[in-house]
Amino acid sequence: MELSAKYRDVLPSFSAPAGGELTPEMLDAYKETGVIILEDFVSAEACAVLRERALQLVEGFDPDEVRSVFSASEQTQLNDRYFYESGDKIRFFFEYDAFDDAGNLIQAKEDCLNKMGHAMHDLDPVFEEFSYMPELGEIARRIGIANPGLIQSMYIFKPPRIGGEVHFHQDSTFIYTEPESCVGFWFALEDATVENGCMQFIPAQHRGPLKQRNYRVSEDAFTIEVLDDTPWPEHAKLPAEATAGTMVMFDGRAPHMSRHNTSDRSRHAYSLHVIDQDCHYPAGNWLQRGPELPLRGFPQDV
Ligand code: FE2
Repeated sequence: MELSAKYRDVLPSFSAPAGGELTPEMLDAYKETGVIILEDFVSAEACAVLRERALQLVEGFDPDEVRSVFSASEQTQLNDRYFYESGDKIRFFFEYDAFDDAGNLIQAKEDCLNKMGHAMHDLDPVFEEFSYMPELGEIARRIGIANPGLIQSMYIFKPPRIGGEVHFHQDSTFIYTEPESCVGFWFALEDATVENGCMQFIPAQHRGPLKQRNYRVSEDAFTIEVLDDTPWPEHAKLPAEATAGTMVMFDGRAPHMSRHNTSDRSRHAYSLHVIDQDCHYPAGNWLQRGPELPLRGFPQDV
């Protein structure tokens, strides 16, 4: 896949556009690589507000209620009812290495969690205010999503020492529409570096096919169907290092991964996924929302 020389060593990065008005240069870079980094998209204060709210929600969560574990490197969580019924709830998922042999948490509760998901944007007022910022709706429309709706939110803890690796995947594997329309908006709430497991992308691969699709095969079982078994050219991956407040936007077909966080620093992030509400959303997708929580769009006025 054609990639201009300027993006072979570094992903496209820009200062955040006022009002979400992506420039032609930003749109060209996004179209070419499938990912752009927009620095200082939100303020340090907005990051702190979200981190504090997340920790309040964690405080109210009793780990004894659930010992559910999430790891995108294995797919077992998709057969876990606590997981697949979380599309319209706020639920907590532990890292695999969160517990010692006696079943006790090995470090502070918030430093044992993999993520919280998947509907904070519609269920918690603090997350709601952040998530429905009109600039995101403007960006979505500028990249061709006619009727954007927020399908998913995740607070990702990537805790020190035990934050697990996430293998290469495409988000449209899980958030699939016909035609495909998934876009990720990922916000660094703390500085994300190679050391603490920032996201890494293979530029331009979003122009290739969707390689896998996840869907329900029975009431409580899901499968991953392989559509294309060509390996990713992993040697071409580039880190998306991001200071707190930076937003990384990426196409639903853009392959990405993140390494194990072996550092002593957490790497908190908040991610949102947008789809076009005019596209068909299959009943077989794992993420389903009940009738009391219909998909919503963004305010129109920026
Ligand atoms: Fe992902």
